[in-house]
Amino acid sequence: MNRQPEEMNRDLPTMADSESNLEKFPHSEEQFRLLVEGVKDYAIYMLSPKGIVTTWNSGAQRIKGYRTDEIVGKHFSCFFTAQDREAGKPKKILEIAAAAGTFEEENLRVRKNGSVFWANILITALYDNGGELYGFAKVVRDITERKKAEEKLREHERLAALGTTAAVFAHEIGNPLNGLSTSLQIVSKFLAGSADPVVEETLEMSRQELQRLTTLLNEYRSFAKPQGINTEMTDVRQLFQEVLAPAISHYEDCGINVELEFDANLPLIPVDREKIKQVILNLCKNAVEAMPEGGSLRCRGYQSGDRMIIEVADTGTGIPDGLNVFQLFKTTKPQGTGLGLPIVEQIISEHHGSVHHVTELEKGTVFIVSLPLDGTK
Ligand SMILES: Nc1ncnc2c1ncn2[C@@H]1O[C@H](COP(=O)(O)OP(=O)(O)O)[C@@H](O)[C@H]1O
Ligand SMILES: [Mg+2]
Repeated sequence: MNRQPEEMNRDLPTMADSESNLEKFPHSEEQFRLLVEGVKDYAIYMLSPKGIVTTWNSGAQRIKGYRTDEIVGKHFSCFFTAQDREAGKPKKILEIAAAAGTFEEENLRVRKNGSVFWANILITALYDNGGELYGFAKVVRDITERKKAEEKLREHERLAALGTTAAVFAHEIGNPLNGLSTSLQIVSKFLAGSADPVVEETLEMSRQELQRLTTLLNEYRSFAKPQGINTEMTDVRQLFQEVLAPAISHYEDCGINVELEFDANLPLIPVDREKIKQVILNLCKNAVEAMPEGGSLRCRGYQSGDRMIIEVADTGTGIPDGLNVFQLFKTTKPQGTGLGLPIVEQIISEHHGSVHHVTELEKGTVFIVSLPLDGTK
């Protein structure tokens, strides 16, 4: 039976009208069936002992996409991934449930349209009075959102662990690196003008490599900063100006036109000034590096409800499809570290904000940061 929800709600017994409804539904079984049919957040259905779907509720249709008439009579193996089907999992699961009485797991399942979701699955074997198995009851819940949240948490924990390691690492590497840099300067000074071109070239290469190592080290150090943020009420526009002021003439020399567009009455927001400056620097640096032929760097700030939105837009190369720019060490640049955006993400998440990007190849990219105006979630 395939009832519309409104129709079902009309039919369901109410406390006030219980007597007349009891007449209408003499069997509590029928009431129970209607209740199950109406549940939206759980797929609740039954299988025959061999795994053929025999009942279906509206939650099952919502989660898995099949209508009752499409799925009743079919084998439940269509809910499994190809890999699980090949491994004979549908049959094994029913065997376990029949032997143990129940089976529960969290695993991937497939919807009618082929998309995969994380499901919590509980199967209960049903026996008649004579102890004969007559089917299985299945309750399935879509837990994709929870899984995503758990994954994000794990990634943050990983970043935090990396931060602690970086502190030790930076301490051990920083001093010898400074020493090397000084030695190189002394040698360059000593040889000034008189060295063989090959020696000059070698020195220059060593200087560049040292510079790269120093940048890498400094970016690592950002992770090592003590966890937590030190907020004060801040004018974000001013932060942009402080970050861009020392670089702007260099940007203009590279053919990059810088525009700042901030709402006139933008409120102050509670942020860690140094950390947000680093966010701005990392985003602007990426934007500039994406425009080797020049272009336009546009930084915007505006209020949207209880959030402040900061955008850093460029007219550069765009980000190739499938490149997860927030992944640690993911870089497409010969001199890159792949740490800039993971640092941005970490800092923004410490501020209870979010960051995402919109990009188009050869047109450009916009990084959009959203921060809560009151500093809380
Ligand atoms: N504005 C942008 N335009 C194009 N690509 C970008 C942009 N920002 C980031 N990327 C891509 O994301 C990668 C990771 O950036 P990031 O974490 O800052 O590391 P890095 O700049 O050291 O490579 C870059 O190597 C680049 O491929
Ligand atoms: Mg970068």
